Amino acid sequence: MTEPNASDHQIAVIGAGAIGSAVARHLLAHGHDVVAWNRTPSRLDPLAAAGARPAGSVREAVSSATLALFTLTDYVAVQQCLAELDGDLSGRTIVAMCTGTPDEAERAAQRVTALGASYLDAGIQTSPEVIGTDAATILYGGSRSAFQRHRALLGLLSTPHFVGEAPQAAAIWDLTLFGLWYDAQLGLLRAFDTVRAAGIDVAEFTDTAVKQLEHVVTGAPGIASELLNATYPAGPATLAEHLTVIRHLIRLRDGQTLGDGGLPTVAARIETLIAQRRESEGLTATIAAEHGMPVAR
Ligand SMILES: NC(=O)c1ccc[n+]([C@@H]2O[C@H](COP(=O)([O-])OP(=O)(O)OC[C@H]3O[C@@H](n4cnc5c(N)ncnc54)[C@H](OP(=O)(O)O)[C@@H]3O)[C@@H](O)[C@H]2O)c1
Repeated sequence: MTEPNASDHQIAVIGAGAIGSAVARHLLAHGHDVVAWNRTPSRLDPLAAAGARPAGSVREAVSSATLALFTLTDYVAVQQCLAELDGDLSGRTIVAMCTGTPDEAERAAQRVTALGASYLDAGIQTSPEVIGTDAATILYGGSRSAFQRHRALLGLLSTPHFVGEAPQAAAIWDLTLFGLWYDAQLGLLRAFDTVRAAGIDVAEFTDTAVKQLEHVVTGAPGIASELLNATYPAGPATLAEHLTVIRHLIRLRDGQTLGDGGLPTVAARIETLIAQRRESEGLTATIAAEHGMPVAR
């Protein structure tokens, strides 16, 4: 990690919640000049005690900075704070660091660009206490040149990961990772629910569940290369064999607390592929076709 020159950046942190406070404290600890604004001014006191300069308004904070980090609850808050800015903000970079949808990120980018500033969107895959450690992941999308300009400084918060020039790229990546976690976690809960309802020892089941999840983890790079090569070999089972098991599962899950996990949709998709005589392909074929253009990188 290269230490950026503190005099090259004046940093504004807009929002002194859990993430904003952690970000500001970390930058202060590295000797950076941080001006901070928070809607509830009293929440700034601990940061001021740590060396941050409190600002009286969003405009005051951003106008004195080359890099402004908007660490707020959501894009509604980001837009409300952006609405307080006007004039020409060229030469500045505004980073929206919050969880939200791709279209919200795109609208924030439009507003920032209209103000003449560069836009970065950040997906925080990290809890506040992890910020600044090697375990921290923050995804950035938007202006590549702004990312490169501030890369060393952003590298103080996490290993910075640039995911694409589209302003919504980080939001898509970020939300998709959350979705992956929910799918895996809810799949696990659904499995526990089924076995517990059947009177099976949940603790004993856990070892076999972990082994099953490991198959998913170790298989991920193989699926990526199947997609890259546009070849969908059967692997452990053909589509026809998968369809048989999935139909059994749909019956087993009938009436379950967390529903069927979308398996009828998957079964219908496999039936379509089988009708196209693709029954000997593997499960990756279910997502292989009919995709839009990838988000620009
Ligand atoms: N905390 C985590 O572990 C974590 C992990 C991953 C991602 N994230 C994401 O990071 C973002 C920030 O999370 P956080 O944990 O820092 O949230 P937080 O502790 O609840 O802080 C939210 C901040 O947003 C400000 N705010 C809310 N609405 C506002 C508005 N309309 N105008 C101006 N300021 C407003 C709050 O100001 P007040 O003090 O005045 O209320 C506060 O400074 C969220 O999008 C969250 O999903 C958080």
